[in-house]
Amino acid sequence: MNREQLIELAVEARSLSYSPYSHFAVGAALLCKDGSVYVGSNVENASYPLSMCAERNALYSAFMDGKSKEDFVAMAVVGDTDSPITPCGACRQVISELFPMNAPIYMANLRGDVKETTIAELLPFAFDGSDL
Ligand code: THU
Repeated sequence: MNREQLIELAVEARSLSYSPYSHFAVGAALLCKDGSVYVGSNVENASYPLSMCAERNALYSAFMDGKSKEDFVAMAVVGDTDSPITPCGACRQVISELFPMNAPIYMANLRGDVKETTIAELLPFAFDGSDL
């Protein structure tokens, strides 16, 4: 699976977004070494802070299917933004714990703009388990 195909799966996942409050739909797709892909969209709640982002839903879905950090090779995230969407701070913290530090993260929008990064770039000096 190439970068564009993974982004397309994130676009498809985005259509499953439940975002009646922000009206801002996000999709994510997580590629594993065995070729499997886990997707997520944002799922909101009337009690706003209980809402969950697309990236975390994709990661948690993979974990619930027995996958772990070592299984992941890439992640795509897509939103209808002017520039490629970037993961929120909470997602960066979770990604830094559950996703390989130097694996590609494709940040994209619906216009075909893509920016490739890593969680090492997105969250330098991350707080992690070794700090406890
Ligand atoms: N959101 C995501 O799902 N991922 C991001 O990377 C940015 C923000 C969601 C959270 C909320 O449901 C909506 O987008 C507006 O912030």
